[in-house]
Amino acid sequence: MKTINNVKMFKKELSGKRLSGKSIGFVPTMGFFHEGHLSLIRRAREENGVAVVSVFVNPAQFSAGEDLNRYPRDVNRDIELARKERIDYFFNPQVDEMYPDGYKTFVEVESLSRKLCGKSRPGHFKGVATVVAKLLNICRPDVLYLGQKDAQQAVILKRVVADLNMDVNVKVLPTVREKDGLAMSSRNKYLDDDERARAPVLYKALSEAEKSVKEGERDAGLLLKRIRRRISEEKGIMIDYVEAVSIDDLESLDEIKGPALIAGAVKLGGARLIDNVLINCEKL
Ligand code: PAF
Repeated sequence: MKTINNVKMFKKELSGKRLSGKSIGFVPTMGFFHEGHLSLIRRAREENGVAVVSVFVNPAQFSAGEDLNRYPRDVNRDIELARKERIDYFFNPQVDEMYPDGYKTFVEVESLSRKLCGKSRPGHFKGVATVVAKLLNICRPDVLYLGQKDAQQAVILKRVVADLNMDVNVKVLPTVREKDGLAMSSRNKYLDDDERARAPVLYKALSEAEKSVKEGERDAGLLLKRIRRRISEEKGIMIDYVEAVSIDDLESLDEIKGPALIAGAVKLGGARLIDNVLINCEKL
């Protein structure tokens, strides 16, 4: 595995591979790997001649007062894990390599970026869309691997790829969970033992709603009310949002129909946790 932190060198390496006809699979991350990252990394490895992972904690997607400075990092451990998974390239640029002096260009995905998490994290998806567009231009992969836990991010990045005519196939893989259902996330590290024990309630509430939909309930208002009530049974959890939206445009639904996403975000101690269930009523 080659570890590269320079854009020019990385582009040169990959253009050689591309010329030799190998497919390139790319997993963008902010590091501090957990099984969720590793599931994407393994798929990229299995399905491509060249497997690439990037680790870059992107300042552009954090607003002032968010956790940029305390975001968990352990790049040496990430390098070892990527090596074990037989990744070919580990791209780990510094901030001034991605955003050199004079940097001015940002990718704004209208409307989608302002829904769900976008309401309480203004500017977040602009930062995500910008850095991923840059990484895709640098790496020019055949396949981009993303996780379903960040469902809104996946919808937005698919939009970027389509709107900017990028030739990359976007694959979204299922959320990897701890035994008690908590979605794996680097931010789970912020939870103390007591908070960690309460954290699975978000997924429990969402899966109970999913079960109700499977049993025939379609009233989104009722389902969301039950989810909120279930979450409020645990002390100290602040609900940021719980919403039922269409997976295409993230518009709120009154009635669960088509492929729908029921998504939520909560604050627990020092952590903001997100999760979702994807329900395809047509297939039930
Ligand atoms: O999901 C993440 O870790 C980040 O948002 C991403 C896609 C790597 C962009 O910085």
